[in-house]
Amino acid sequence: MSMKIAVNTGGGDAPGLNAVIRAVVLAAINEGWEVYGIRDGFGGLLKDSEYNGDGVVRLTANSVTGITHTGGTILGTSNRGNPMKWPQEQPDGSIIEIDRSDEIMQEFEKRGLDCLISIGGDGSLTIARRLRDRGLPVIGIPKTIDNDLASTTTTFGFLTAVETATDAIDKLHTTAASHKRTFVVEVMGRHSGWIALFAGVAGTADVILIPEIPFTIDKVFQKVRHRYEVGREFAVVVVAEGAKEIGGEASFVEEAKPGQEARYGGLAKKLAKRIEAECEVETRSLVLGHLQRGGQPNSYDRLLALRFGSAAVELVKRGDFGSMVSLDPPDVIAVPLGQALAKRKNVPVDGDVVRTARALGISFGD
Ligand code: F6P
Repeated sequence: MSMKIAVNTGGGDAPGLNAVIRAVVLAAINEGWEVYGIRDGFGGLLKDSEYNGDGVVRLTANSVTGITHTGGTILGTSNRGNPMKWPQEQPDGSIIEIDRSDEIMQEFEKRGLDCLISIGGDGSLTIARRLRDRGLPVIGIPKTIDNDLASTTTTFGFLTAVETATDAIDKLHTTAASHKRTFVVEVMGRHSGWIALFAGVAGTADVILIPEIPFTIDKVFQKVRHRYEVGREFAVVVVAEGAKEIGGEASFVEEAKPGQEARYGGLAKKLAKRIEAECEVETRSLVLGHLQRGGQPNSYDRLLALRFGSAAVELVKRGDFGSMVSLDPPDVIAVPLGQALAKRKNVPVDGDVVRTARALGISFGD
């Protein structure tokens, strides 16, 4: 049966998105189907977007040539464009969130699109699931550098981000040692500390702070002081942006507003100030930020992305809608979207990587 399938990328970008798009397009063409890319999440379908409702492009083999190794997404993405929480200004100047899923459903109908392959994190996949509830055949492909999506062993982009962070920690080590300084490095991870943990252990940090293990600042001071006392006169502290003190709040640079989630950040700077004042050692902070989302996907992430893309087309072929592709080594399987979104995948606090870190003397500030 000939099909017209749509594909979009939503939420923050992650290395490997282009490889997924390429696999979806080539595998679908292989079936004799047509593929259409929606620009900027769902923005390409909305009348008042910059595309004026015409942000849907036919994707051919030529459109996806040479993109497997490139970062970003050729379709564009947005983490401000949830059509079910669309910010709309009211006559009194206030802004409320409205649901525009009717428009999305109508656009699919009007264009004769048979189904949607949606590549996204929990936000985008929640949208996809709601569209599924409204009758749109959807398949989800999990994406996040944070690696916090349940029901998949890992997501593409995560290990590339870990490599970027590890490389930065390695570089900070040598300058920290030369200047007898302490560095506090902030990595992404609002709700879970996967990047901080993996990069921190691989980069041999002295302290790793993650949201799953609330910390006590005195324990951090203790570890830093100890480093200097025993003659290893520098320290590297790796923090996930969402880490918090016991009984405390995470650090934000911008509050949540209609259509936009709160933005985390600022923890490294605050900690560096406190460490410098308390431990009397010169301390600098660094935020890796979006460097972790950019650049070429490593070979593991490319391969995973290509596998996810072609598996999603398999699911369309089987009519297994409402499901998400998932890595369950050694296989890529299908899980119901509802199950995948039911909970977050946090770092297991007594898992083997945390235990390895502790055995190596790394402090979690607890
Ligand atoms: O991709 C998820 C994430 O990396 C979070 O860890 C981070 O807080 C967020 O994206 C930042 O996204 P943006 O600056 O694009 O809103």
